[in-house]
Amino acid sequence: MIRSAIIGLGDISFVHLDAILSDPENQLAAACDLNEELRSRVPEGTPFFTDYREMVLKIRPDVVHVCLPHYLHYPVTKDLVEMGVDVFCEKPVALNIAQAEQFAALEEAHPERKICICLQNRMNETTEALKAIIDSGEYGAVTGVRGIVPWYRNPEYYSLKPWRGTWEYAGGGTMINQSLHTLDLMYYLGGPVKKLHALVGQLNDYGIEVEGDVVARLEYANGAKGLFFATNNNYANESVQIRVKLEKAVFHIEDSTLTRIDPDGSREVIAKAPVLEGIKFYYGASHSRMVQRFRRAVESRSDDYIHVRDAVMVIRLMETIFRSAKEDALLDVL
Ligand SMILES: NC(=O)c1ccc[n+]([C@@H]2O[C@H](COP(=O)([O-])OP(=O)(O)OC[C@H]3O[C@@H](n4cnc5c(N)ncnc54)[C@H](O)[C@@H]3O)[C@@H](O)[C@H]2O)c1
Repeated sequence: MIRSAIIGLGDISFVHLDAILSDPENQLAAACDLNEELRSRVPEGTPFFTDYREMVLKIRPDVVHVCLPHYLHYPVTKDLVEMGVDVFCEKPVALNIAQAEQFAALEEAHPERKICICLQNRMNETTEALKAIIDSGEYGAVTGVRGIVPWYRNPEYYSLKPWRGTWEYAGGGTMINQSLHTLDLMYYLGGPVKKLHALVGQLNDYGIEVEGDVVARLEYANGAKGLFFATNNNYANESVQIRVKLEKAVFHIEDSTLTRIDPDGSREVIAKAPVLEGIKFYYGASHSRMVQRFRRAVESRSDDYIHVRDAVMVIRLMETIFRSAKEDALLDVL
């Protein structure tokens, strides 16, 4: 049994609270938000704080969930680690590569502490099945990867939480906030990316600073080709699509289903992942699996979770995409 606390009771907090409260081996020990009205989001009687340091000193939880705007992930996690607690931190690991490297250095400097970064789509049953197929070599090498994120964010999404539309507090738009998971999977499944060339823009007229639309052509280290397309300007939120072409078959993930497409066009469903209920189905349903896996890692002091170091490459890809678009050039992913 572990005792968990949460900082940030905004939109994503429901998923974290549900994961903690539905696990008999996890106890919600306290919650924190600057906005006192949000205390109603946790069960009555749960100790509530507006200052997270005070919460940690008084409650001494084993794990703290960080569900805060992006610019706070690193500084708040640093504080928590130095106060001696393990951390389950929402994505992204950082605003940019310089901060991501600082975060990885913090992890290295504190081998006694556990810090998990919430890239939960790596734990979707479909992703796990496809990763195992790729790693087995049964269908040959990866020759192509395509990721598509056709999402929609309305003006209120930004006006209600203004940090989301800013470089300073969010570090970007669709790539760091919405399609980060898919960009991460393009590397996690496809292997190291050597070079890329990208276009980045904003097709909405909301007057926000950050990008809403990205297309990038990737060149993988093994010679495979990739295409990444992400938008927040679709007419609705529709399923992410991930397609990996191996030498002997194509594998396609869409609507939480992994399908194998053979060279003769025949199709077989290989795996299905549960779909999150409600309008936020597109988050994926693996938060609970990740939170439980981390709880087991915290109890057993094992390394079976997504470390800070594992979450740095996607920030490097994102930053290279921004630079490539600015310079209109094919760039090395350094
Ligand atoms: N893994 C996923 O699929 C997924 C999905 C959605 C959001 N997220 C991530 O979750 C994080 C939070 O996003 P959100 O949409 O819930 O944001 P939000 O703006 O809805 O909520 C953030 C909350 O943090 C509180 N807060 C800000 N500063 C604070 C401080 N110093 N101390 C205590 N509370 C403070 C705010 O009052 C607010 O309630 C982001 O990193 C986002 O990228 C992840």
